Amino acid sequence: MPQATTPKFPKRFLWGVSTAAHQVEGGTHNQWTTWELEHAKTNAARAEYQYNDLDSWTEIKTEAKKPETYVSGKATDHYKRYEEDFDIVRRLRMNAFRFSVEWSRIEPSEGAWDVTAIEHYRQYIGALKARGIEPMMTLLHFTLPIWFAEMGGFEKRKNVKYFLRFVEKVIGELGKDVKYIITINEPEVYATESYYLGNWPPQRQSKWLWWRVVKNQLYAHKKAAKLIHTASRRYKVSIAKNSAYFYAGDDAWLTRASTRMMQYFQDDYFLKRAYRQCDFIGVNYYFSNRVYGYRVHNPDEQVSDLGWDMQPENLQYVLERLHQKYKLPLIVTENGLADMNDERRKWWLGKTILALQGALREGLPILGYFHWSLIDNFEWAHGKWPRFGLVEIDYATRERRIRPSAVWFARILRRLQE
Ligand code: BGC
Repeated sequence: MPQATTPKFPKRFLWGVSTAAHQVEGGTHNQWTTWELEHAKTNAARAEYQYNDLDSWTEIKTEAKKPETYVSGKATDHYKRYEEDFDIVRRLRMNAFRFSVEWSRIEPSEGAWDVTAIEHYRQYIGALKARGIEPMMTLLHFTLPIWFAEMGGFEKRKNVKYFLRFVEKVIGELGKDVKYIITINEPEVYATESYYLGNWPPQRQSKWLWWRVVKNQLYAHKKAAKLIHTASRRYKVSIAKNSAYFYAGDDAWLTRASTRMMQYFQDDYFLKRAYRQCDFIGVNYYFSNRVYGYRVHNPDEQVSDLGWDMQPENLQYVLERLHQKYKLPLIVTENGLADMNDERRKWWLGKTILALQGALREGLPILGYFHWSLIDNFEWAHGKWPRFGLVEIDYATRERRIRPSAVWFARILRRLQE
C-alpha cells in the first residue's frame, strides 16, 4: 500500500493521464490510416504466429484475428466525446491531461491550415482549463500528414522546416492556455519501429535511414524548442523519452559492461544531445531489462498482456539516474500496462506510487505523473486488443466503463492530495 503521509507529494504535483490523437480521436487521416487499411488482413492472419506464445493468447485470440482490430477507424471517438472524457478525468481526481495535436488535421495539405481543426483544439484546451485540468500538449506523436510522409518525412533534413512551420502555427494559435509542451514523443521508438525493425510505416529496414531519422528529429526538437522559448520563456518544453531500466543479472565483467552500454544507448545517446533544450525531462517508463552477458533475459515473473516483464518499482531508479545525469526536473509522461482483465493494474499503480515516493524521499524534483492511458486505445501495429485504459471501452457502443483499479487509484489520490 502506498504511504499517504510520508513523503508528501508537492502541492502542485500533476496527476494525470496521457493520450495521443491517432490512438483515441477517430477519423484521422495520416500515414498510419492508409497503412492500416492496406495491412489489416495480413496483421490478422499473422496474429496466431505473432501472439500465440503470450499468456493472454486464449483470451485475445478472437479479437486479435479480426482485421478490424488493426484499423484505428473511429477509435474511441474522443474527437467528439472529449468533454465526457474530461469529466471522467475529474472524477478520477486528476488535475492534468496529456494529449497530442494531430498535424494532419491542422495542415491537411502542405501550407493549408484548417481553421476548423484549429478551433476544435482551442475548444478542447478550453474544456480542460474550464475543469481545472492542466494541459500538456504533444506536437508530434508518431503520425505524419500524408503529404509530409510522401516527401520523405524525417528522412530528409530539408523537410524539418515543414514541422517547424507547423509548430510555430500551433504555438501562435493554441499556446496561450498551455504551459507544458512535448515537442516529439519517443523519437527513437519512431525511428526504430519505422526504419530499423520495419514494423511501422513506411516499413523500411535501413540502419542509415534509422540514423538520419534520429538525427533529424533531434535537430527538429532543438529548433522547435528554441522557437517555442523565443515565443515565451513561460513555456516548459521537453521530449517524451522512452526509458527503461537495465540491470545486471550476474556479476560477470561482460554483463556489467554491456548493462552500462545498453543503458547508455537507451537513455543517453539521445538525451545527451537534447537535454539542453529541455526545461524538464519527460520520462515514459514501461519495463526493465535484466542483462546476462550481452543479452537481455527477463525473469518474467509478472508479465502484461503484451508479454512485457513488469517491474514498476524500478521507475525510482530510472528517475534517480536521469536526475543525477541531467539535473533537470522530471515528469513521468507515460507509464502503464496492457491488462484487459484489470488484474494487475492496481498492483502496478501501488508500486509506482511507492517508487515516486522513494524518489521524492531522495529529494528529486518530480513535477508530475501521467498514467498511460485514460482509456483503451489503438496500440499502433498491435491494433486495438491491448487494453491500457483506466477506463474500458466497448468498441461496439463506445461506452466508457471506469475500471475498478481506477476507482481505487482515485481514492488513493484523494488521500495523497489532502
Ligand atoms: C507510446 C504510446 C503507446 C505506449 C504503449 C509508448 O511507446 O508513446 O503511443 O501506446 O507506449 O505501448
